[in-house]
Amino acid sequence: MPQTKVLQVNNLVTAFRINKQEYPVLNGISFDVAQNETLCVVGESGCGKSVMTLSVMQLLPANGSVKSGSIKLDGQELLGLRENEMGQIRGNKMGMIFQEPMTCLNPLLTIGYQMTEGLRRHDKGLSKKEAEAAALSYLNQVGVSNPEARLRQYPFQLSGGLRQRVMIAMMMSMRPRLLIADEPTTALDVTIQKQVLLLLAKLKRTMNAGILFITHDLGVVAEIADRVIVLYAGRKVEEGTVRQIFENPQHPYTRGLMAAVPNIAEDTFEIRPIPGSLPNIMEPVGGCSFHPRCKEAIARCKSVIPPLIETSPGHMAACHLVGGQTA
Ligand SMILES: Nc1ncnc2c1ncn2[C@@H]1O[C@H](COP(=O)(O)OP(=O)(O)OP(=O)(O)O)[C@@H](O)[C@H]1O
Ligand SMILES: [Mg+2]
Repeated sequence: MPQTKVLQVNNLVTAFRINKQEYPVLNGISFDVAQNETLCVVGESGCGKSVMTLSVMQLLPANGSVKSGSIKLDGQELLGLRENEMGQIRGNKMGMIFQEPMTCLNPLLTIGYQMTEGLRRHDKGLSKKEAEAAALSYLNQVGVSNPEARLRQYPFQLSGGLRQRVMIAMMMSMRPRLLIADEPTTALDVTIQKQVLLLLAKLKRTMNAGILFITHDLGVVAEIADRVIVLYAGRKVEEGTVRQIFENPQHPYTRGLMAAVPNIAEDTFEIRPIPGSLPNIMEPVGGCSFHPRCKEAIARCKSVIPPLIETSPGHMAACHLVGGQTA
């Protein structure tokens, strides 16, 4: 049975204006996130992961804009909505968690005030007492100890791990359809990171939400992803289930990423640097943008952008060498 799609992104093109010139950063990206599914986005620093999430949330910096494409949440087109309509959607249907929880928490207000106000904005009929009871229950669910005392505290009085839990509790209380997490655990120590990941997995099941998750850590991807997309220089170069990507990577770039080095001490997998670097957005590379770094490149890679080819059901790669293509 086909799963209900929560997020459908089609042919997304996002550009930045630098010195009065427009430079595309996302070059026509498409992907979906289904209910009860975690889609992980991987790729080197600068490949466009954050720009992708910021485009979906419509929180791009002032010099960035979505040029074309479509972004649908539960079937509703988001592009072209007014800022106040988008604000409503961000507060209700899209939950966001970031690396630094302080970007979402107001340092001047107690946790209790922020949580109950949020709940009452969401559900107008809720009394103060009811909102407080709900806030306590959410803090309990995310494993915050002594929640009554936490409600009276200010964000700076909590540790980083606790702040992250509070942010997740606040987000859960909104019961979003889609959860967007951009490197949410990078700043946390390993034990707390594990707990947060378990929490997100539980959240996905209990709320039947979709999760769009960005991380540098392939160990985390292996643990939480249902499907994975690999970005390179603003294009999707591979997509598949977590097994397809880990066990049978098709694109030379994905294979490079997969040659990850386990860091036993930290219990993580670090992406081993692939020789060379990503092209600068102001100096795009012709053909396949990975070709200058690709050991397997053939003549055609320099001039023709490879299309995405389905190599097995649900598994796609954009490389001239896959799917029986030849030079
Ligand atoms: N405000 C901006 N103006 C111009 N270019 C920008 C701006 N913000 C980001 N970029 C460029 O867009 C590209 C994609 O950046 P993005 O932040 O999405 O990378 P990322 O994949 O999230 O990297 P990281 O893993 O380091 O977070 C980069 O080349 C970056 O320099
Ligand atoms: Mg980023």
